[in-house]
Amino acid sequence: MNPWRKGTSWGLSGLLLIAVVSGCGVVSTDNQTANPAGTTAEKKDDGKLVIGMSMDTLKEERWQKDRDLFTAKVKELGGDVKVLAANGDDSTQLSQAEQLISQGVDVLVIIPHNAEATAPIVEKAHKEGIKVISYDRLIKNSDVDYYVSFDNVRVGEMQAKAITEKVSKGNFVYIGGADTDNNAHMFKQGAMNILKALQDKGDIKIVYDQFSKDWKPEEALKNMENALTANNNNIQAVVAANDGTAGGAIQALTAQGMAGKIPVSGQDADLAAVQRIAEGKQTMTVYKPIKAIASKAAEMAVALAKNGRVDGVSGKVNNGKIDVPSILLDPIAVEKANLADTVIKDGYHKLEDVYKNVPKDQWPKP
Ligand code: GAL
Repeated sequence: MNPWRKGTSWGLSGLLLIAVVSGCGVVSTDNQTANPAGTTAEKKDDGKLVIGMSMDTLKEERWQKDRDLFTAKVKELGGDVKVLAANGDDSTQLSQAEQLISQGVDVLVIIPHNAEATAPIVEKAHKEGIKVISYDRLIKNSDVDYYVSFDNVRVGEMQAKAITEKVSKGNFVYIGGADTDNNAHMFKQGAMNILKALQDKGDIKIVYDQFSKDWKPEEALKNMENALTANNNNIQAVVAANDGTAGGAIQALTAQGMAGKIPVSGQDADLAAVQRIAEGKQTMTVYKPIKAIASKAAEMAVALAKNGRVDGVSGKVNNGKIDVPSILLDPIAVEKANLADTVIKDGYHKLEDVYKNVPKDQWPKP
């Protein structure tokens, strides 16, 4: 659809690039990515617009849904998607994004592993006339064109609020996400908005507060073990930034016979987490309807590819360099009491999967 761009010919170098990338986490959602031979001609022949999606990772369950729902929506709107995932590696993400740019995608959608390190991708894309959407996570200090996410400060507030509603005194632990992810900072900011008042009153003490490298559950496990050891297990509540880190924290609590005895938050409504909520081992999660963000991003990407702009985006989020036109969707706090009315009702998970480990007489009545 768009004019052919610099560096798009598939020669030996293109084949070599694919060989390298396929060894480090390439994800293909269409034949074009998997089989480069002749694809550019095919793409141009059928005139379809192509959206490139450069993902940090597919590790957390949610990202697989993001990929699938985004791809389905773009296809519904008449386009195609090329997806590459970087397995949490900055240089891989950079080279994969360059690959998508050189393949002549019409628009680039990026879920950055590293908020700062992805900024050069925006510059490179712009040089080729390709607009960039920052998906879920903000690319900082760049001229990124649009940002679509959830209200991430609100996510953190929901986490801390749910926990302080259960326990409002004592020693609190904050298990954060990846330091390199701008969202992790916003979740923490939100949580601290709530915790600070209680801390100032002297009701609670934040005795441990650490990020967990790359959002890894095993890093969260180590953090929680350290927090427990340093405080002789005298911990009354845990605010964990997502379900993966909550899982790590709960593993450490289980080893001390404390799982289910103190509240733990999460985020993402991962199946394992909503099962823990049904079983009473995790207090809450924050459900972010992935269909909503994926559809919105797909609509934006297709509009950008067709018209070079997206109308009706009135929000702004500053990324350290510019105010990025932004759309922030609403997250939903989920506890045992509203599991059925939220994630299950939405079809995000099935009742029988969520309550798999719970005796049937305790399942919510339809
Ligand atoms: C965040 C994202 C969360 C969670 C986390 C780990 O940026 O907003 O939903 O998935 O990354 O991947």
